Amino acid sequence: MADRRPMMAGNWKMHKTTTEAVAFLEGVAAGVDKDTGVEVVVCPPYTALSAVGADIKKKNLKVSLGAQNMHWEEAGAFTGEISPLMLVDLGLEFVIIGHSERRQLFGETNETINKKLKAALDHGLKPIFCVGETLDQREAGQTTEVIAAQITEGLEGVGGDLSERLVIAYEPIWAIGTGKVAEPEDANDVIRHIRALISSLFGVDTARKIRILYGGSVKPDNVAKIMAEPEIDGALVGGACLKPESFLELVNYQ
Ligand code: PGA
Repeated sequence: MADRRPMMAGNWKMHKTTTEAVAFLEGVAAGVDKDTGVEVVVCPPYTALSAVGADIKKKNLKVSLGAQNMHWEEAGAFTGEISPLMLVDLGLEFVIIGHSERRQLFGETNETINKKLKAALDHGLKPIFCVGETLDQREAGQTTEVIAAQITEGLEGVGGDLSERLVIAYEPIWAIGTGKVAEPEDANDVIRHIRALISSLFGVDTARKIRILYGGSVKPDNVAKIMAEPEIDGALVGGACLKPESFLELVNYQ
């Protein structure tokens, strides 16, 4: 994996009240109080961000905080939305953008995702930019093409050195929450294509340094095999990151 720092990111989705979130941190604190070389990120729901952020600080945990989504505008008449300024104000470092559940259930498109990515980067937030194909697209042999469109359109007009400011997550939709994990070699191949595309769009140096994660049914018992693939720099984990024991096993996959 060259000299890229591995990342384990937990996407809590719509799970955990603030009380449950704080109890979770209590449960993992002893396992994430030292720097192990793996960058650990948790992405709680908006309602728990503030409490989780305060607790991470208080306990001096080596955990970074991310949100799961945001709007691209700084403020305005957008009922129910959260702006980049609000996330920055909470001291967040990361924000997941373009998760397949946002695309499939909430109508997000490459165009709106592009606006969100630009806004996040402009505000100094580091997007974890999700891409991935459906089962139909995979079976029709369209994986590379679909992902290329997601990346090219998602990053349209984005400039500068992205290597430290952007993380990409390859999440085949058929593997999310289904227990069907992609074959590590297949995921590695897709990620190699993504890196080649990043090289053609942003240069070889950015491509060499940028981190590309795999996501989709990552669990303690398959994480080591996934992380052994040379192109895979980490994992974006849903279900298996919710329990302290399982989360700690993932974080300590080495
Ligand atoms: P899963 O979700 O680990 O539950 O498959 C991954 C994700 O949606 O990021």
